[in-house]
Amino acid sequence: MSGHGDPIPMKSRKGGPLAGVAEVPGDKSISHRALILGALSVGRTEITGLLEGQDVLDTAKAMRAFGATVTRHGPGEWSVEGVGVGGFAEPADVIDCGNSGTGVRLIMGCMASSPISATFTGDASLRKRPMGRVTDPLALFGARAYGRAGGRLPMTIVGAAEPVPVSYTTPMASAQVKSAVLLAGLNAPGQTVVIEKVPTRDHTERMLKGFGAEITVEATPEGNRITLQGQPELTAQRVAVPRDPSSAAFPVCAALLVPGSDILVPGVSQNPTRNGLFLTLRDMGADIEFLNPREEGGEPVADLRVRYSELTGIDVAPERASSQIDEYPVLSVVAACARGTTVMRGVHELRVKESDRIDAMARGLEACGVRVEEDDDTLIVHGMGPGGVPGGATCATHIDHRIAMSFLILGLAAQAPIAVDDGSPIATSFPVFEELMAGLGAVIERG
Ligand code: S3P
Repeated sequence: MSGHGDPIPMKSRKGGPLAGVAEVPGDKSISHRALILGALSVGRTEITGLLEGQDVLDTAKAMRAFGATVTRHGPGEWSVEGVGVGGFAEPADVIDCGNSGTGVRLIMGCMASSPISATFTGDASLRKRPMGRVTDPLALFGARAYGRAGGRLPMTIVGAAEPVPVSYTTPMASAQVKSAVLLAGLNAPGQTVVIEKVPTRDHTERMLKGFGAEITVEATPEGNRITLQGQPELTAQRVAVPRDPSSAAFPVCAALLVPGSDILVPGVSQNPTRNGLFLTLRDMGADIEFLNPREEGGEPVADLRVRYSELTGIDVAPERASSQIDEYPVLSVVAACARGTTVMRGVHELRVKESDRIDAMARGLEACGVRVEEDDDTLIVHGMGPGGVPGGATCATHIDHRIAMSFLILGLAAQAPIAVDDGSPIATSFPVFEELMAGLGAVIERG
């Protein structure tokens, strides 16, 4: 949906302690992949727990445009009747991926090694984001890309009629780039290899294996070497999508910051490529218990019991960045409420997310009375201690769901209410955010 609708101003304020159970929705990364691999399989894939956020709905629509039959049966229950590897049809219209970098980049990968063309666009945020990072490796398969200056959407990809397999070392830590190459490799003969120096979320590899692809991951001195055998027949599967750790981050951080809180967040993925925030929070002194560890939908999960904690600022190593890359906005809010300084290094990738998240958080925190320093790759937040953030500002969200939710969480702990200019992007990843937070006792209002 590229038509970003009317802005929804929202506001949050201090209230009583948070209590209860926060059942956050399905994982966004896994939801996209379940629809995409379902569409590339033979047979009927059945999905439960699918995130019904706008980003994922846009991917469902795109899969229909390429020929798959995608049906909603009930809340989170979907099926996909796939067309098989190499079976994508040429879409009759532009593919609009809305706000979703994951959607557009993975789908470009899927179609780039087929003899079809597709034109992609997105909302004002997505049209600013760099696509060269996927079109460069896709060109090695033989695909061509025609976009706006700087490799921006709208962009037409002309798929390779006779794709060749590729060996590619990703130049930045990006699961989207890795996944685009692997998905393109599905329809190329021979072996496609991706080497990533820094491990990133591995849902594509796990799920490809689950759908029957021959894929191996070896740790080498250069990093992880992922080898995919091309032109497999993928077979439809049942996929149970676990809850999203990146959404769980918001109630977890809220409970840590609001005095007297004690909440349970069940079934949160503890995949080591995704759980960095929870480890960082514990390093800051957070009282988080990981209860009932188990496996769900092929992912390690645990129930998180989280209690209010007085936190201390820390130096967050760059090695943590990739396992918590989407959590820096809310981590910087936690840092603002901690005692002492938090230094977040190695975070350059935040500059090319749904917004420039270093800039968006720095400006909003400053407006709330917090002292911040930044350079291209670092964000430093000088914590004001529990109850120390003045607040009383309106923060700009720049069509970025995580910026909107982060400032609304800060408002629950600040001295004066905090407003955001537009909470509508929250629906891209966490459509039940307001209800869920209200159920815990948080005061978050529209208007
Ligand atoms: C995602 C990968 C990450 C992350 C995004 C989801 C994915 O992006 O920020 O929210 O599902 O592959 P990068 O690949 O750009 O790091």
